[in-house]
Amino acid sequence: MKISRTVLLAGVVGALMAVAAVLVNEQIDGYTSTDAFCGTSCHSMQAHVANDPVYLESAHRTTSSGVRAGCADCHIPHGIVAGTWAHVKGGVKDIISETLNDFSKPEVWNSGRAERVHRVRDWLLETDSATCRNCHEEAAIKPERKRGQRQHADALERGLTCIGCHYNLVHAELEARPEFLERAEKGI
Ligand code: HEC
Ligand code: HEC
Ligand code: HEC
Repeated sequence: MKISRTVLLAGVVGALMAVAAVLVNEQIDGYTSTDAFCGTSCHSMQAHVANDPVYLESAHRTTSSGVRAGCADCHIPHGIVAGTWAHVKGGVKDIISETLNDFSKPEVWNSGRAERVHRVRDWLLETDSATCRNCHEEAAIKPERKRGQRQHADALERGLTCIGCHYNLVHAELEARPEFLERAEKGI
């Protein structure tokens, strides 16, 4: 069978364009995932989240090894499909929200905070804390104190997930909802 040169050329050009699209997307995903972008492109994130002393002084930002978790490390899943979807969905929602609300007023930002906190926790619960696990290998975690050792052994045995115990991790504290704790207790 003889494939015409035009068809062949179209195929090659198409394939190259697909590769280019993936690369550009990776670049955009990479850029929009940096703390510089998440924490500054949107004023509310900068004013209320990235510059919050609770965040700046958290263990995830102040380790002596210099290893730091940034916004996207915890909030954007890995993988081109999941990562891009999370970005597009979250990004569009954030832009709409920024346009409709005057988040420069702390009371406006804070009035929606509880709902956002619970949404992030629920998402981490539903994904079995996948973004945490990109850095932390559960079997390798060795808590210093007895209570931690006991709870970690329990977590491995019963399939309990990180966020069920480690909420209030890097942002201002907020009590967990009873429904969240009940779901977390059931395990994954
Ligand atoms: C180490 C993981 C981690 C990092 C790093 C992190 N977050 Fe979070 N974030 C969480 C968790 C967990 C929650 C759910 C609330 C809680 O339990 O603290 C949350 C909640 C939030 C919320 C909803 C609550 C609120 O205050 O409105 C926003 C918005 C948010 N994060 C944005 C950011 C931004 C922006 C950055 C970077 C400047 C960032 N996060 C860095 C883990 C993280
Ligand atoms: C970018 C990598 C990274 C990600 C993502 C990450 N961590 Fe960490 N985490 C670290 C580092 C680095 C430390 C501090 C050094 C250490 O003690 O290992 C740390 C410390 C901790 C600690 C002990 C200090 C504290 O604040 O209590 C807990 C608990 C923890 N992480 C849980 C989580 C959970 C839960 C998530 C997901 C919401 C998460 N981490 C996401 C890298 C990460
Ligand atoms: C059943 C509750 C529970 C679950 C689930 C759990 N942890 Fe913990 N974790 C603890 C407790 C309690 C400690 C000890 C805290 C202390 O001593 O201050 C601890 C300690 C840690 C530490 C600090 C270790 C050190 O240096 O002492 C890290 C890091 C950590 N957990 C990460 C995780 C990650 C990541 C997951 C999910 C893979 C997870 N934990 C799941 C309860 C839990």
